[in-house]
Amino acid sequence: MSMNYKFLFSEQQLGAFELPHRIVMAPLTRSRATQLGDMPNDMNAEYYGQRVSAALIIAEATYILPQGKGYAFTPGIYSQAQIDGWKKVTDTVHQKGGRIFLQLWHVGRVSHSSLQPEGVLPVAPSAIAVTEGQAFTEQGMIDFELPRSLETDEITGIVEAYRQGAINAKAAGFDGVEIHAANGYLLEQFLKDGTNKRTDRYCGNFENRSRIVLEVTKAVADVWGGDRVGIRLSPTGTFNSMTESEPQALYNYLVEQLNPFNLAYIHIVERFGIAKDADDNDFDFAKLRQLFNGAYIANGGYTGEAAEQSLVADESDLVAFGVPFIANPDFPQRIKQGAELNTADFDTFYGGDAKGYTDYPSL
Ligand code: PHB
Repeated sequence: MSMNYKFLFSEQQLGAFELPHRIVMAPLTRSRATQLGDMPNDMNAEYYGQRVSAALIIAEATYILPQGKGYAFTPGIYSQAQIDGWKKVTDTVHQKGGRIFLQLWHVGRVSHSSLQPEGVLPVAPSAIAVTEGQAFTEQGMIDFELPRSLETDEITGIVEAYRQGAINAKAAGFDGVEIHAANGYLLEQFLKDGTNKRTDRYCGNFENRSRIVLEVTKAVADVWGGDRVGIRLSPTGTFNSMTESEPQALYNYLVEQLNPFNLAYIHIVERFGIAKDADDNDFDFAKLRQLFNGAYIANGGYTGEAAEQSLVADESDLVAFGVPFIANPDFPQRIKQGAELNTADFDTFYGGDAKGYTDYPSL
């Protein structure tokens, strides 16, 4: 079925950028960095180059320091070799006329000592382990361990690592950065009360639990200017064993505290791994959009039709798609034409070679 995607294919300002349409490529972990040194490579450049018809590409989650790594074969942005590797990606994307942000990542407890420097335990706000799933290590899937609780004076160093990651992303030629504060990783572990049982100024009321996120946002916006920075949040997310007793009040508060930074956008994971029409959660996402002074990027199981409806209903400004971009390098073109979509092959999502990565056909 071909429908009239009047809103989806209309121009949109996003911070410093005038985008040709509203379809964003969501950040997607694909675990295909060069293993020695966790560096982006030519194959990664080809993959992103195939997807430049997205209004904006948000590159995969990329750790800002060795301690922030949580999955085998994922890339970093702390060494010169990694900066050089990312430069291949951004050059390719820019040569083809695209725009690309880097997502800055620290996984916190969602790691394993075998992925950590000198085999130490992963760190977290509190010594509380992930209870569901297993860590994806170079030796295969392994149970999560009890993380080590961060000392208060270590937090400054982590904030500075985000600042350095932002500086490195600039050196690598990105157009901006997205702060990953979603999906159960370090920053969300501080935000949500199920994982934060600290007794210092980073725990307790909303102000304290939001503190590290706001410190990171300030550091990153200092480097880039707010109009080239976005932040990803997942208020209702339970992925990686996350819980929060007052999600609406917490995220209403956080979004308002973000306003002084004049960020380009908030990128909201409204649901994770399920279709939009299968979701009966009653969280008021419209409230976040209303409270925030930048653009609202919706994400979570959207189809082209659902995205158009969301824009028509004035519920979002842009929509980010993940899995459809894995399987369809030319996803925007396909929905515009009402063309068939390729089916995504889950078995090749994480790790491996060109199969299931750069070999999905365009029209
Ligand atoms: C994953 O590797 O499964 C993954 C990574 C980052 C996310 C979500 C999922 O934000």
